[in-house]
Formats: sequence, C-alpha cells, structure tokens
Amino acid sequence: MLARKRILLIISGGIAAYKCLELIRRLRERGAAVRCVMTPAASQFVTPMSVAALTEDRVYSDLFSLTDEHEMGHIRLSREADLVVVAPASADILARMAAGMANDLATTTLLATDKPVLVAPAMNVRMWHHPITQRNLADLRALGVRQVGPGEGAMACNEFGMGRMAEPAEILAAIEAQFAAGPLKGVRALVTSGPTVEAIDPVRYIANRSSGKQGHAIAAALAALGADTALVTGPVNLPDPDGVRVVRIESARDMLAACKAALPVDVAVCAAAVADWRVARSATSKIKKPDTGETPTLAFAENPDILRTLSRPGKNRPRLVVGFAAETDHVLRHATEKRARKGCDWIVANDVSPATGTFGGDSNKVTLIDAAGAEDWPPLDKAEVARRLAARIAETLGKKP
Ligand code: CTP
Repeated sequence: MLARKRILLIISGGIAAYKCLELIRRLRERGAAVRCVMTPAASQFVTPMSVAALTEDRVYSDLFSLTDEHEMGHIRLSREADLVVVAPASADILARMAAGMANDLATTTLLATDKPVLVAPAMNVRMWHHPITQRNLADLRALGVRQVGPGEGAMACNEFGMGRMAEPAEILAAIEAQFAAGPLKGVRALVTSGPTVEAIDPVRYIANRSSGKQGHAIAAALAALGADTALVTGPVNLPDPDGVRVVRIESARDMLAACKAALPVDVAVCAAAVADWRVARSATSKIKKPDTGETPTLAFAENPDILRTLSRPGKNRPRLVVGFAAETDHVLRHATEKRARKGCDWIVANDVSPATGTFGGDSNKVTLIDAAGAEDWPPLDKAEVARRLAARIAETLGKKP
C-alpha cells in the first residue's frame, strides 16, 4: 500500500521524537520514501544524523539555508510529497499551524503544502487538556487535518494521562488509511472486539470465552475497503490486523472510554463480548482465604452498555451502528428484541450454544437483522462474514446521507 509513496515527516520538539526512528524504519520497510524536516527543538531529542541514516536522505531544518533552498526550495519540499506527517506534533507546532504562522521551515512547509496533513500530537497532559490546544486542534481538524492519537499513559515528565504520542504502529496504520483506496475511503470506522476482563483483585478476574476473531476480522475487512479504522479490543491472542489502529483495554469501562475517544465515526460495529457486570468493589490487595473456611461473596455492579451508548441519538451518533447478539436459544426472537432495546441499526445474530463451536472457532452462522427484517447467511468462516458485512456497510453508507 505504501510502495513508492513519498512521506514528508516533520519532527517537532518532544521526547516522543525518538519514536520517529522506528516509524521511519517501518515506513521504509513498506517501500515508502521518507524525507524529514526537523525543528531546532527536535534536534535536541534525536540527532539529524540518525534520521538521515534511516531515511537515506538529507535532513532539512533551516528556512534560510542557501544550500537547502538551492537543492530543494521549501515549496518543492512541501509539494513533492504525497502526505505530510507531523510527529510528534507538539502543542507549539499545533498552535503555529492553527494560527497560520510560517516562522520556520516546518511551519512554512505546512502552510505551503497542497497535500493531506496528518498530525500525531504529543505533549504533557495539562497542555493537552488546555482549551487553547483543544481549540487549535478542532480548528485544524475542521480544515481537514487528520489526527492520530494521542493515547493515555505514563509520561516522560512523570505525570499520567492523555498526551502520549500514538505508537509507531498506530501512526503507520493512519498513514496506510490515508492511501487506502476502496468504497470506504474517507469513512471512519470503530470496531469493538474480544472479551473484557473485570478485576476481582490484583490477581483474579472475571472474563468470558470470546476469542476476538470475528471483531478483528471485521476491522481488517473495513480497513481493506479503505475505512480509517480504530479497533478497541480486550485481551486476545491475535495479531493486530493490517492498517488498523488498535487500542487495547481491559474492562468494559475502559472500552467505553476508548470508544468515546474514537468518536466521531461514520460506522460503529460492536462485536466485543462485554462483561455485563463487574465486581462492585474490586480489592486493591489479593483477597486471602480465611481460616474459617468461609467462601467470599462477590457483589456485582452493572457495566455500561457500549452499544446502547453509541446508539443514543445525538450529534456524535454514528450514521450506522451494528451490534451482535450472541444467543444460545430463540436466537431470532432475542436478537430482534435486542436490536430494539439497544437502539442500533443492525444486529448480527449468532448462535453461540456450545454445539455450534462459534465461540473461539473459525466459522460463524449469522442472521443479519435490520429494520426491514432478517436475512439468514449460510455458514461461513469468520473472515468471510466480515467481508460480507463490510461490503454491506459500504453499500449502505454509499446510499445513506
Ligand atoms: N454490548 C455492549 N456493552 C455491554 C454489553 C453488550 O456494547 N455492556 C454489545 C455487544 O458488543 C453486542 C451487543 O451489545 O454487540 C449484544 O451483546 P450480548 O452479550 O449478546 O447482549 P447483552 O446486552 O449482554 O444481553 P444478554 O446478556 O441479556 O443477552
């Protein structure tokens, strides 16, 4: 997908700049040509020498360098690329981009480019949540700038929260999505997959038998048709699908938060087997066996319903919301009721009674239920169910305003 594509990578100042070296390697492995512009601050975090060695090209950094302008003017630099990626995109460069400034080579190139721009923000959590940063990003997004990340986690500044740059694999997936061709090009998709696990204490948990095979296959099929796809998944034993941004979570509440962070999307497919309940008060230390031989009693609390939340009418409701109904008996009746109860557009009903081998297995026998009625599909392997579903989604979104 990336063979012979030309990526102009603008590296701004931030500790996450070191991840760019890995990103460059992965892009090169896929046949892309990478040319880099580094801000002076970026050179404090990674050396231009490393970047030049990995790109096998020179690194551009100075707007007023006669040699640079002679070899490659900044206008040419910005045009001779198929995509401009800013990673890490510091709060500072985002602010300058939003203000239309052109006070160094990076921002001049960004203002002069006629190519799509993708930013991977990276900054301290407070800088990220600052209304000015959020406003700048909203302005940039409204102008068509695409964004990947940031994620949540421990930061180099010893704080914890949002602002960590997306991992190279996620940035790579977002870049691949930019070049994808197909009926879902320009469509944003969200897929949930796998089980959720709910902690009892730091060593024990409650989970279910979902393998994530169907959800992962759907994410792969949507991405293959060109959708910019985010996959929010519980713990599974599966490789990340190609061209998909993967967000790993454990609990249902984490899954809901990750789904909300992925909005707005055009289509959401909830294939995860979300635990309906969590332990009301999970213990912070391991629960010990009492000498008395008494057995512990666990009190449960209801988990949020992700499908129902995404289906709620509102400005962020995806144009199409698809749920699954895993049933062991009265499949059609229960699934039809579930569609109405959850408020989703389609339900993919499947029989998961042990004799079918659906849970954990490779094949699936589903019935697609929409407002018009129910359509039985023949037994298919999960990848084929995914391809058919993705094709049906493409057909429907093509018609839906
Ligand atoms: N689902 C969800 N969040 C939950 C529970 C379920 O998003 N907390 C989604 C699943 O991903 C699936 C659909 O809702 O798309 C139906 O899940 P299922 O387990 O079949 O139904 P439940 O709502 O749990 O109902 P029941 O257990 O009574 O069958």
